[in-house]
Amino acid sequence: MGKRRVKATICNEAGEVELAVLEGTMGPEALDIQQLYPDHGLLAFDPGFRSTASCKSAITFIDGEAGVLLYRGYPIEELAEKSNFIEVAHLLMLGELPSESEYEDFWGSIRRHSLLHEQVLRFYDGFRRDAHPMAIMVGVVGALSAFYHDAMDMFDGEHRLQAAIRLVAKMPTIAAASYTYSIGRPIRYPRNDLDYAPNFLQMLFGVPSEEYEVNPTLARAMDLILLLHADHEQNASTSTVRMAASSGANPFACIAAGIASLWGPAHGGANEAVLRMLMEIGKIEKISEVIARAKDKDDPFRLMGFGHRVYRNFDPRSRVLQKMAKEVLDHLGIDDPLLEVAVKLEEIAVHDEYFIERKLYPNVDFYSGILLRAMGLPMTMFTAIFALARTVGWVSHWLELQGDSHGIDRPRQLYVGKTLRHYPGKGKKQQR
Ligand code: ACO
Repeated sequence: MGKRRVKATICNEAGEVELAVLEGTMGPEALDIQQLYPDHGLLAFDPGFRSTASCKSAITFIDGEAGVLLYRGYPIEELAEKSNFIEVAHLLMLGELPSESEYEDFWGSIRRHSLLHEQVLRFYDGFRRDAHPMAIMVGVVGALSAFYHDAMDMFDGEHRLQAAIRLVAKMPTIAAASYTYSIGRPIRYPRNDLDYAPNFLQMLFGVPSEEYEVNPTLARAMDLILLLHADHEQNASTSTVRMAASSGANPFACIAAGIASLWGPAHGGANEAVLRMLMEIGKIEKISEVIARAKDKDDPFRLMGFGHRVYRNFDPRSRVLQKMAKEVLDHLGIDDPLLEVAVKLEEIAVHDEYFIERKLYPNVDFYSGILLRAMGLPMTMFTAIFALARTVGWVSHWLELQGDSHGIDRPRQLYVGKTLRHYPGKGKKQQR
């Protein structure tokens, strides 16, 4: 990284302070403020991290203005067209696309670790039947930290990779079991003769009393959904994983923290919210009413699936998903009026001055709900599938930060509470 210096004027007794500017390989430069407090007694204030680069990372690049998303330099559209989820997992976790033999080794080790410890399976019985799959996933993934003591030396690169592979391998089994448990179906064991997405589908939809035949179009759609959601640089859940891991915490517990963060409607829960909104709209005639509500400053309603903290243009993933949603609906012969509502809503919104001015475009969640619904998944599973996909991103960041020497993440605060005051009277201890 190159270094140049700019002058930042600080208006207090510290006077003029010179700060270094750090250049990445792409994207905006960053002002290095690490010495601001030690040398000048000042903190930087940036709640929500709108202008803060929390770390250096070489995994994923987003240009929000241009609508560009790159995994290790490769455009998401090219990977969506030519690659698959396991190859992308190798790329994100290990830095490069694998050769044929590297692919076989990598996939072989994921496949070998897909089973859950039998004692883990017993945890499911402790959850209420109607528990949200994300609640079950937070619990079960966190519980994995009580296993694998044999390979938990975090100073050993082999052990770290082993933990990352275990997480990627077991997550489909955990997610599928969270679903089948909630509907009273027996939990299915993984089938190691199947690829990653088909195996996940058979664990979700298969029953022991019948042969499950994997539909190749649905398997391709699931693989694509996983690939598109695999990583998205320093979002809330990934930053949560990085922060939890900065203390040296157990990797399974760190990923459970990421799942908890992802669950919220402003993050991974948004596609569920999009579908609810589309169902509420129901027909094209009601769209103008909804657009008017979204634009009304006195109404808290927002158009779900529109806008993004980083993208100020089309989210490139939403175009790929729109195409796949159409393909799956055609293939299954489903005439979903919600897709029609979604397409019309998008058309109207992207030509509306309010949305143009604020650079609000459809995000990844806008079409993923329709696609998942067509594939037969209930809304409560949408975020669980996002968590399954994002596990690859989380473990990639977890692996990356092990080489980072900045130590524990410990933000400061702008204190706005009471100033020093003293305890009144004699106090409880003296009264007794
Ligand atoms: N509908 C209507 N108006 C919107 C929307 C929306 N979806 N999103 C933003 N705006 C407006 C705001 O009211 C604000 O208007 P103003 O300048 O007149 O006050 C302006 O656009 C900027 O909004 P911010 O809240 O500053 O944008 P921010 O970058 O903080 O928010 C967010 C991004 C949270 C994604 C927001 O666009 C939103 O709530 N969208 C709907 C929920 C959603 O789809 N979330 C999924 C995100 S993708 C993901 O996490 C995988």
